[in-house]
Amino acid sequence: MNLKEMVGIEAAGYVKDGMVVGLGTGSTAYYMIEELGRRVKEENLSIIGVPTSYASKKQAEALGIPVRTIDEVEAVDLTIDGADEISSDNHGIKGGGAALLFEKIVATYSKKVLWIVDESKMVDTLGAFPLPVEVIPYGSQQVLRLFEKQGYRPVLRLDEDGTPVKTDCHNYIIDLHLDTIADPEALAVTLDSTVGVVEHGLFLNMVHTIIIGKSNGPAVNHVRP
Ligand code: A5P
Repeated sequence: MNLKEMVGIEAAGYVKDGMVVGLGTGSTAYYMIEELGRRVKEENLSIIGVPTSYASKKQAEALGIPVRTIDEVEAVDLTIDGADEISSDNHGIKGGGAALLFEKIVATYSKKVLWIVDESKMVDTLGAFPLPVEVIPYGSQQVLRLFEKQGYRPVLRLDEDGTPVKTDCHNYIIDLHLDTIADPEALAVTLDSTVGVVEHGLFLNMVHTIIIGKSNGPAVNHVRP
């Protein structure tokens, strides 16, 4: 079993009967959704899934997990999602899979957020992983130029065919090659106030529990109650 599968299965064990569960996106969340599907089928687990992407929605539906949108539920009890980087002070970068907008909305309206990662994602300071920023296509070249002037080393994310990657909301992703993010909170404020930016991949003060996949088993970090 690989480390992503280990933490995916471990995290699915946190889901209890009757819960509304935010279903993350990516190669780690994939295993968690598979395990929830198994529990629904074999253990008669009764849950509602709130997917954070069309990919996770498709997977959940194929497994027989009932799904709703974030607007069709009152609140989400627990969201389980992967991350691209987690700093020693428990901030995260997400969006490597371009699903950061729905992921942040679902996490924001969740009572608890659980991240599942293999140990390679744990870092001292965020920034080695390029920070994804979702932008509206209209004016995106201007935003790109502004980011260049700010020294953010921005790169518009492209598909294999050379066209801009489109998110589930038909927006573009600009990846910021920052190397080190000394002050994530200040950067978040700047990005939040940049016209044309829909959302960014800095997930600050958001996680309650982190499960880290290590070769000797999963380690659980309780960040906040
Ligand atoms: C999706 O946009 C991301 O935020 C993912 O949650 C993140 O990239 C982790 O993905 P993996 O589990 O595939 O590494």
